[in-house]
Amino acid sequence: MRKVAVALSKGGVGKSTTAVNLAGALAQQQRRVLLIDMDTQGQTARMLNVTPTHSIADVINGDATLASARVEARPGLHLLAGGRGLAGLKRAIDRKEFGGERTLSEALTELDGAYDYIIVDTAPGWDVLTVNALFFADEVLTPVALEVLALQGLQEFTRSLGAIRRYHSQLELRYVLPTFHDRRVRKSEEILQQLQRHYPTQICSPIRYNVRLSEAPGYGQTIFEYAAHSTGAEDYRLLAERILDDEHTQTHA
Ligand SMILES: Nc1ncnc2c1ncn2[C@@H]1O[C@H](COP(=O)(O)OP(=O)(O)OP(=O)(O)O)[C@@H](O)[C@H]1O
Ligand SMILES: [Mg+2]
Repeated sequence: MRKVAVALSKGGVGKSTTAVNLAGALAQQQRRVLLIDMDTQGQTARMLNVTPTHSIADVINGDATLASARVEARPGLHLLAGGRGLAGLKRAIDRKEFGGERTLSEALTELDGAYDYIIVDTAPGWDVLTVNALFFADEVLTPVALEVLALQGLQEFTRSLGAIRRYHSQLELRYVLPTFHDRRVRKSEEILQQLQRHYPTQICSPIRYNVRLSEAPGYGQTIFEYAAHSTGAEDYRLLAERILDDEHTQTHA
């Protein structure tokens, strides 16, 4: 079972777009996938056009069982929704005297082996929910928008990851995913090259800027359902292939 957190402190870089479409692509490849939304914005449910009664916060608080909270959004793709309830959970974790960072991991131990992939979407910023997601995950996938200061933002985030690795050494920044790529923009190319130099093993082929990717959530569809032949679908298919290829070179079981 692979546990992948999609994370970067910076907002609007394509985290939720990546989490939803990657989860969709993996499920289409017959993998058993659970998507967990750790953002109070709770967008992933809308992006997949499902309205779960319970959220991951309810599961952690003991107000719902895992089985009753997760919904089958697509064949092979389950969702544990985020949303407003996570704000209360955040406060509850803050009040804990110790062990708060493992709250999510503890609530999900019974999932061991139930899925091939657990993908966790995280909020922008750096809060206890993101820290919980990173303590739970073994791999981090970081979408980086190809814009000025992208590299700096990523390096800062890498330092924060380093602090977590002291307590959770399995955690690995495995994928750096350039997003909003536009070949016509010189700056975009320059920044892509910088990322390739700094993260030669983690770098993935970029997700191009594609308006279809921004339209699909409005229809509650993944990019594969909304525009299967778009560049967005092509790029996310390629990302899924890369991740599937690595099933054979996993560092952790
Ligand atoms: N490659 C792309 N091309 C065009 N639009 C995109 C692309 N990727 C994402 N978008 C759009 O950009 C916006 C931000 O994307 P998204 O919500 O995935 O980012 P995020 O990192 O999850 O944001 P937040 O930090 O607020 O959670 C959304 O409107 C989304 O539809
Ligand atoms: Mg998001």
